[in-house]
Amino acid sequence: MTIAAVLTAAGSGSRLGRELPKAVVPVAGTPLVVHAARALLAARASDGTGVTQLVVTAPAAHLDAIATLVGAVVDDASGDVRLDVVGGGRTRQESVAAGLAELLDDVDVVLVHDAARPFAPPELVSRVVDAVRAGHAAVVPGLPVVDTVKRVGAGDRTGRPVIETVPRADLVAVQTPQGFARDVLERAHAVGWGRGAHEATAASDDAGLVEATGVAVWVVPGDERAAKVTTARDLLVAQALTTGGPA
Ligand code: CTP
Ligand code: MG
Repeated sequence: MTIAAVLTAAGSGSRLGRELPKAVVPVAGTPLVVHAARALLAARASDGTGVTQLVVTAPAAHLDAIATLVGAVVDDASGDVRLDVVGGGRTRQESVAAGLAELLDDVDVVLVHDAARPFAPPELVSRVVDAVRAGHAAVVPGLPVVDTVKRVGAGDRTGRPVIETVPRADLVAVQTPQGFARDVLERAHAVGWGRGAHEATAASDDAGLVEATGVAVWVVPGDERAAKVTTARDLLVAQALTTGGPA
């Protein structure tokens, strides 16, 4: 098994509302992309295998800065890790596709992880890899949904009508890293390529593209620490959990 990780960091972070792209915004003095890269490189599958290629997608204006930041993580990691930093696309889907184009020939397992989930612990990464190794071609971490979820229809300016309440026991909220047999992920991106041009049609995760090709996706237990940083509030929570204090 030869494992590569595609770490998506090319988004602007518009909902975070910072001048800097989200991936280079610090928590506890360290940029999100650095936290995420450290976790990926620290993880080991139960047979001891770790990530040997890291492909980071970066905003065009920050390619060099991100290469320097993640380069230091790679230098500190045990074992030989190849680093590639590539420009992102218009959507996350396009960015992942750009990352996949960089994979070395011998890679057969691919993790896709978001810099926006900086504190996914190494044991979560390991759990995903082990499930792929056990024969699941597409693996996602999922956590039970705690809210009651309702499907709604088109409404007016005051609100929207409920169509149904979706049974919560059947729902999970999925996280990253997601893990794939390389050939399955590459095929899914090839088949879904046309969706990637616009946010409205693009897949919000890679497993969604795999599902669309009819390949089964397997859910392993997620981890609260892999929560996504989307808003300023999420960043404050991440900061408080990391340092025990405010930003
Ligand atoms: N991402 C990417 N390329 C894009 C868009 C997003 O690599 N064109 C990455 C982000 O850097 C992030 C992950 O995909 O690590 C998840 O995306 P999201 O949380 O939506 O981040 P942003 O797109 O940066 O934020 P926003 O949607 O608020 O602008
Ligand atoms: Mg986004």
